[in-house]
Amino acid sequence: MSQAEEIKSKLDIVEVIREYVPVKAVGANFQALCPFHNEKTPSFIISPDKQIWHCFGCGRGGDVFAFVMEKEGLGFMETLRLLAPKAGVVLRYENPEKYSKRNRIIDILELAGKYYAHVLTTSFGQKAREYLTSRGLQENTIKDWGLGYSPDSWDSLYKFLQARPLVGKKYTNEEILEAGLIIKKEGGHGYYDRFRDRIMFPIWNVNNNIIAFTARINPAKEKTEKMGKYINSPQTSVYDKSRVLFALNKAKTAIKSADLAIVVEGQMDVISCHQHGFENVVASSGTALTSEQVALIKRFTKNVALCFDMDSAGQMAADRGIKEVLAQELNLKVIVLPEGKDPDEILRSNPEEFAQAIKEAKPMLEYYFEKISANLELEKLDNKIKVRDQMFVMIDLVKNKTESGYWLKKISEELDFSESDLREEFVRWQSKQKTFGQATAQTVAKEEPLSEYKTREDRLSELLLSLAIKFPDHLSYIISNFEPEYLSSSDSLRFYNNLIIYYNKTNSLDYTTFRIYLEEQGAEDERLLDKLILLGEKDFYNFEVNEAKAEIIKIIVELKKFALQAKIKKLEKNIAQAEKEERQEDLDKLMVELKSLTDEIKNINLD
Ligand code: UTP
Ligand code: MN
Repeated sequence: MSQAEEIKSKLDIVEVIREYVPVKAVGANFQALCPFHNEKTPSFIISPDKQIWHCFGCGRGGDVFAFVMEKEGLGFMETLRLLAPKAGVVLRYENPEKYSKRNRIIDILELAGKYYAHVLTTSFGQKAREYLTSRGLQENTIKDWGLGYSPDSWDSLYKFLQARPLVGKKYTNEEILEAGLIIKKEGGHGYYDRFRDRIMFPIWNVNNNIIAFTARINPAKEKTEKMGKYINSPQTSVYDKSRVLFALNKAKTAIKSADLAIVVEGQMDVISCHQHGFENVVASSGTALTSEQVALIKRFTKNVALCFDMDSAGQMAADRGIKEVLAQELNLKVIVLPEGKDPDEILRSNPEEFAQAIKEAKPMLEYYFEKISANLELEKLDNKIKVRDQMFVMIDLVKNKTESGYWLKKISEELDFSESDLREEFVRWQSKQKTFGQATAQTVAKEEPLSEYKTREDRLSELLLSLAIKFPDHLSYIISNFEPEYLSSSDSLRFYNNLIIYYNKTNSLDYTTFRIYLEEQGAEDERLLDKLILLGEKDFYNFEVNEAKAEIIKIIVELKKFALQAKIKKLEKNIAQAEKEERQEDLDKLMVELKSLTDEIKNINLD
């Protein structure tokens, strides 16, 4: 057994997928809302029996590896590396040549993390250590978060990394550069360390790999240093700032169990929160929340509370980013802190106050309303209308009708408008938005009405094949009543031909051996087999054998009609042509053909 096979055999695909989306048992299988496209009714099916999945909305499908690769955006080797521990499999050391580039970059970052953490414990890191302690961080917190110190030197990390790894291929300059840890000297040759004399915070991805660093200035230099208070790793092949939430790896379990994610701004805030027992906290690292970050959170909860300081929260609310977030159907609240304070400061003076602030979190729209009406005289009609229209923009983003209704009622009270008038105004406002063709945020995350089938014939063809596989008792009936040429797509046609050949050879249909047979044909039809199996499970999971027969007959009849109609259309064209060119003999022949086809259509009857 290969390592991949071993890992696969030890994992339950349902459990792995469940970590990303809620799944529901339906018969012997599981359904979910597809995590790869936006949908309201589940077309994503998992078969625990066959250990495969398929989405009938967007057409993606495969095994557990395919799922994780797609979801995490990883290559095959990296996916193995991610899943191995879950399966309790220890990966054998791989050939360094084959070791993927991404893994080498991550290894460099991990190594740098160890280096910085080590320096923090030495005399060079003493000042930094004292500072962290003065900020209330306990020793084990510093360890848990892998905090470190980058020495006040131009190349100490660079030299350290050049000498590593002790076994295997040494890291090249290009690799270290790609990890974002060194910078090319201007003009001349050579490199220098990006982070110098700073407190180092590793940034992990959800799988606990270090993918970047953020680095806080030496507090002694806060007044003089020209670079920012925090500097971050650049965008690299492993780090995309807009797709990372700081501390999500540590917070995800708590987020799930609290069914709430709290988003703060800074690294120090997160660490302080966790140390004080608020473990469902992550940081956006000083930027507005992106829709990618929200998608990450949504794997664990639909409730998000933003805990930003007043100014940036206000900005956020006005920002386009928040609209994307609202459009993603999250329950979004704002934790309001006393002016000028961040969570870390509050926690250090009075943790109870922070707990209270969480309890009193305000729904985003309420917060927004307060924010935009704060400095306005609401007695004035034009101010009321201004606020009303700004609220309409936000309410329009709320997809849930009950909820948007609630907000309409609420602002009608606040602004002293009659509720029914306001509702009417809202509807009118919405239609005006549409006629102006303005991009309201509904276009941001609108539902994709996707189906992977282009035509009804395509869908029917696959339904028939899925029935044939799920109910092999009817296979010989299908084969004798349904010609391959009635199938609309070349994939279905090839598959059906293979099915007939295989069935005639073995007189039975066994999933495993048929799959191997298809693999040997080399047209990747085994993937279609998996899909058809799941299609059968999705649409016919509770069908009795005789119900299946009735369905088969219906589909055969319809597909035959489609095929015959297509033929008739073609004939009619030929007839018109023959008439034009006055080819009487051809015309007679064609008319006879047409007659027999129309008769055939009338007489399609099966039992
Ligand atoms: P703050 O300036 O509020 O810092 O920036 P802080 O988190 O309170 O830090 P301490 O408490 O003074 O140590 C909030 C966040 O914005 C990002 C960082 O992620 C920071 O944690 N930031 C800030 C930057 O990326 N660059 C900067 O220059 C400043
Ligand atoms: Mn702070």
